[in-house]
Amino acid sequence: MSARQKDEISGVETTGHEWDGIKELDNPLPRWWLWVFYATIVWAIGYCIYYPAVPLISSNTEGVGGYSSRAELHQEIAAVEEGRADLLAQIEATNVEDIVKNDSLHRFAVSGGASAFKVYCSQCHGSGAAGSPGYPNLNDDVWLWGGTVEAIHQTIAHGIRYAGDEDTRFSEMPAFGRDGILSASEIRATANFVGKLGNLEHDAALAEAGETLYADNCASCHGEAGKGMRDLGAPNLTDAIWLYGGTIEEIATQIGAPKHGVMPAWGERLGDATVKQLSVFVHSLGGGE
Ligand code: HEC
Ligand code: HEC
Repeated sequence: MSARQKDEISGVETTGHEWDGIKELDNPLPRWWLWVFYATIVWAIGYCIYYPAVPLISSNTEGVGGYSSRAELHQEIAAVEEGRADLLAQIEATNVEDIVKNDSLHRFAVSGGASAFKVYCSQCHGSGAAGSPGYPNLNDDVWLWGGTVEAIHQTIAHGIRYAGDEDTRFSEMPAFGRDGILSASEIRATANFVGKLGNLEHDAALAEAGETLYADNCASCHGEAGKGMRDLGAPNLTDAIWLYGGTIEEIATQIGAPKHGVMPAWGERLGDATVKQLSVFVHSLGGGE
């Protein structure tokens, strides 16, 4: 290490460090840099005084500004809830038909209904509401019990064949085979006639034999032409949409010992506002009937 000296070429003093004859100039830091550096120190001190900054054993300094991101979050949540409470009160006070007509209520109800649907309905109807055998698809425009928003509201509030609700939707297809109303061959004939109504592959001779059996035993619920009857939840047999399967065998099974779908009532469990939102959401799937 040699002593500090003045560099002859630049006229700047050296630091006294030297490697193989190369000396280090002692250039001062640029002023602007230095001032920015001091400014950050001042700012940091101010920050630590104003905001919570210094960790203590079980808490931290609070800062004179009293700021806390948690308190800010609580405020934001409270503000959102206040806005929601207002909309929920409006939903409660409005009937479903008018909710559909009101843009902002409709939007609010559809998004609230969509999240409630994921929690309470998707296990049976599927997360996309597309259903599965025995559980109807709610996206299409085919409805067992009606697709107006009031009809959907009634279905959701009181359920279907749900013993716990007096106003539940109810109807039951007789067990034509099990209860001995029709013989096995009559059931086969009727199933083939249903196949004819539904444009399925069927035996024409059996279908002809099944025509009067259908008119006598089935038309009262499913209609002369098999178009179904919503007051009774009797499905349309001509629309190629089958709850319990669309082969002649599956139809014969349904005639012999019918399955009956059961859906719980949600009115008491979820409350009016949620059921209305669910109804509006289900109605909005596929654009509403
Ligand atoms: C335990 C299973 C189950 C759950 C959970 C369930 N459903 Fe259903 N749902 C059914 C069944 C089964 C049917 C068909 C009943 C029938 O065959 O008539 C049905 C029918 C419906 C219908 C009538 C469809 C039509 O074509 O008329 C609507 C609307 C409906 N459900 C909405 C909902 C909503 C909304 C929820 C959630 C709050 C829900 N369901 C939860 C089983 C369920
Ligand atoms: C009292 C009314 C009633 C009568 C009478 C009746 N049905 Fe039904 N049928 C229903 C109902 C209600 C359902 C739907 C059950 C459900 O949703 O769980 C149904 C369902 C069906 C299905 C299943 C449809 C599908 O989408 O999978 C077929 C097929 C059917 N009926 C055929 C017949 C035939 C054939 C007869 C006459 C022999 C008959 N039904 C008589 C009420 C009736």
